[in-house]
Amino acid sequence: MVNPFQFGKVVQDKQFCNRQRELRDLISAIKGGNSLWLYSPRRFGKTSLVVNAFSQIEEVKTIYFDLFNIRDNREFATKYLNVLTHELFTWKQGITSILKKLSVHLKKITPTVSLDTMGNPSIGIDIKPNEISQTIESILELPQKLNFPKPICIAFDEFQEVERLDPFLKNIMRSVFQHQQNVSYIFLGSKESLMNAIFSDAKSPFFQFGEKMKLAPISRSDLTAYIESMFKETQLKIKNETIENILHLSECHPHYTQYAAYVAWGLINQKIQQDENFKQIWLSRIIESQSDAFRTIYEQLNTNQRKVLYALSYLDGHSILSNDAMIKYNLPPKSTINTALNSLLKKTLILKSNGSYKFENPIFKIWINKLYD
Ligand SMILES: Nc1ncnc2c1ncn2[C@@H]1O[C@H](COP(=O)(O)OP(=O)(O)O)[C@@H](O)[C@H]1O
Ligand SMILES: [Mg+2]
Repeated sequence: MVNPFQFGKVVQDKQFCNRQRELRDLISAIKGGNSLWLYSPRRFGKTSLVVNAFSQIEEVKTIYFDLFNIRDNREFATKYLNVLTHELFTWKQGITSILKKLSVHLKKITPTVSLDTMGNPSIGIDIKPNEISQTIESILELPQKLNFPKPICIAFDEFQEVERLDPFLKNIMRSVFQHQQNVSYIFLGSKESLMNAIFSDAKSPFFQFGEKMKLAPISRSDLTAYIESMFKETQLKIKNETIENILHLSECHPHYTQYAAYVAWGLINQKIQQDENFKQIWLSRIIESQSDAFRTIYEQLNTNQRKVLYALSYLDGHSILSNDAMIKYNLPPKSTINTALNSLLKKTLILKSNGSYKFENPIFKIWINKLYD
């Protein structure tokens, strides 16, 4: 039998747990032609949410574009043009007619077509170094100019990468997007400080462009029902206590919940009894599978960063800057703690929410916690 829990990829249909309210809000924003930016830490389910919302919308043409694996602004230009062409034209129109239409709107650039190894057509453009901004501008203008019969919604995933690609790209985007009546945008991002710098800084061109939507963990009761139904569907029984252990470990983080449930399902499927030893077997499976990666991360941290992480693994949201904590965990002076916290934040090993610090990865927290046992 196939393990029903999935992680590391977009989850859809039955694998997609609830998020009904978020789906409703997102779908109504898209249908209303409103742009928005969607933030959460990594692996909270942003991409899955948008893909699921897109699959439920007929009246708007939806297009997904990921900035994560784009190397530079030239690659952005070519790949984005290709996605737009594939989504907004049908090859039945004939390549010549498509190229003709593209040339009209792309001003100085002459697009060409080649076939990739799979035989799929791919658009190529020759960009002169001093014309890259102009080229990008005319590509960004395309969706509005093509007179597509439906409104269009374009999702840019990992949008914080825009800074890395080209510091001026977001200025060009903003100046083009604000004039597009028929096109709305969703900007997804997983680095809060970078997303805030783009959308909440009064000096940024994207200041207050679009509503803000922050994705929270999935509720405990929804995840409980979800885990129960996945086990039921695969004709296995999971004890309440095992579900509680999973959610206690994952802190309802969608990715880590799937991972912890995946390991539990594997053990239960192997007929391992859910008795007093089960939790230990399950937990060591989870931690062992990650411990090489954790060790590599840990080796790159200095002594103060290690001390701060160790303290945080016990503090559970309590202040690390209190005198009690500083004495108990033998911490350096406050300014040094702050420096360590900032570098840990930058490495996204920890996150800051409502003024307190927590681990990004609850499994790493347990690994650190047990390190000096
Ligand atoms: N609604 C959901 N229901 C069940 N699992 C989810 C859900 N959203 C996310 N996940 C889990 O989290 C993982 C990461 O989801 P993803 O959409 O890639 O997050 P993000 O885009 O925020 O990094 C998925 O592979 C899946 O294991
Ligand atoms: Mg994603």
